Amino acid sequence: MNATLSGLVMSPSAAPQRAAIPGSYGWPVIGPLSDRLQYFWLQGPRKFFANRMEKYESTVFRTNVPPAFPFFTGVDPNVVAVLDVKSFRHLFDTELVEKTNVLVGDFMPSVNYTGGIRVCAYLDTAEAKHGQIKSFAIDILKRSSSRWVSSMVTNLDATWDSLESQLAAAGDGGSASYILPLQEFLFSFLSLTLLGADASAFPEIKRCGHIYLDLWLAVQLLPMVSINVAQPLEEIFLHSFSYPFWLVKSSYEKLVSFVEKGASETVTRAQTEFNLSKEEAIHNLLFILGFNAFGGFSLFFLSLLSKLSEQKPSVHEELRREVREKLSNNVLSFETVKEMDLVNSFVYETLRLEPPVPQQFGRARKDFDLTSHNAVYEIKKGELLCGYQPLVMRDPKIFVNPEDFVYDRFSKKKGGNELLEYLFWSNGPQTGTPGPSASNKQCAARDVVPQTAAVFLAYLFQRYDEISISSGSITALKRAK
Ligand code: HEM
Repeated sequence: MNATLSGLVMSPSAAPQRAAIPGSYGWPVIGPLSDRLQYFWLQGPRKFFANRMEKYESTVFRTNVPPAFPFFTGVDPNVVAVLDVKSFRHLFDTELVEKTNVLVGDFMPSVNYTGGIRVCAYLDTAEAKHGQIKSFAIDILKRSSSRWVSSMVTNLDATWDSLESQLAAAGDGGSASYILPLQEFLFSFLSLTLLGADASAFPEIKRCGHIYLDLWLAVQLLPMVSINVAQPLEEIFLHSFSYPFWLVKSSYEKLVSFVEKGASETVTRAQTEFNLSKEEAIHNLLFILGFNAFGGFSLFFLSLLSKLSEQKPSVHEELRREVREKLSNNVLSFETVKEMDLVNSFVYETLRLEPPVPQQFGRARKDFDLTSHNAVYEIKKGELLCGYQPLVMRDPKIFVNPEDFVYDRFSKKKGGNELLEYLFWSNGPQTGTPGPSASNKQCAARDVVPQTAAVFLAYLFQRYDEISISSGSITALKRAK
């Protein structure tokens, strides 16, 4: 058993004492504005939370989070930050917290971005519609599992053939950027597997679908996203007001038409088996495709490749050896990658250090006691909890050398599998029952996401003897003999 973990489980320290939640919201207008500037500009989100955690000597404290002032007057920036594994876990308890419209905090992008409908991710478990749509999402994943890997491999073949040609054309010392090709791959592959929609039958969508999704995501999320490259312009133009839907209306309507026509069977099933209206089916499918799946995987695969680029050649070699050994008599499948202990650990470690959705929110349904590693705090009904995963996943009471990327940390060989209980990227633990269900808010793809990433890595190590990556580009590829 992992040393730190065993300490926590076997010799619990004295029961945490009651304490008042430290921190404050500051003066009206000035407090939120000052916190916003520190969050986006002067510190960045990670330092913002880490500095306060240090200042208050507490993983639980009061603070403001953006967006705030001047044009977000209806948005309440006050939150209680929960930054250790124990306090963060309260966000999974649907009896304690409700999730109505708090996907990205108290601010909610206009429903115009989702066809005038509150889609699944904004619904609370107490709403009947949540259960219907969540069951539909789980069903989609179950049905698509048989074609998932074969469709992924076909699309990956095309993507890597094209990257190889680009790299060859760039000549010695050249490189090939993989960001847009990867997104193009994700769009085609996810449309086919999740929706049953073949993008190649819709030429404009095939060419631009991924860019339409990027724009749709960017415009609705701008008030929340830290870029920090062109300050103070960013604060003035990107973080001060929400952008109107009409900027992306025409491309969103093209995507709607793609779902309606290309995924007609899936839309009909939503209506007949899950009792959803046609509009609910289409906009929820588009949200699952674009926001949940495409958005999530775009960030996650970029992190995977970036983590791969940071590893020593010996780590690549070990992963390659494992992949080829397990595939010697087998084809790539979910079953074969399950056997790849190191590959799976690499995937989990990437999800730990780079959780693609860094923040989760939940509003107290009632007054309750919130326990951190160190103290017990009183939470009042209506207060908004804000968990910042990049720090929670570096909880030193759970993870040894928490800042280090330890590629085999989660391997069974090391006993690291027990740590999966503390891996929260999916808004719930990576193991255990019930897992994602109609009655909780855990990502429907808790299991499929890491499996897909493992297939992606295994594909690369099977195909190449050598892969060199540098800042979003492939710089060298050596095909397996
Ligand atoms: C790397 C990819 C993905 C990441 C990082 C991701 C992450 C997440 C997270 C963090 C949540 C919880 C949000 C919250 O309530 O605070 C969530 C919810 C959800 N995800 Fe995923 N997700 C990914 C892929 C997928 C895929 C492929 C599907 C396909 C079905 C999916 C379907 C959903 C659904 C339906 C919800 C809403 C759950 C509910 O309201 O109960 N996700 N996802």
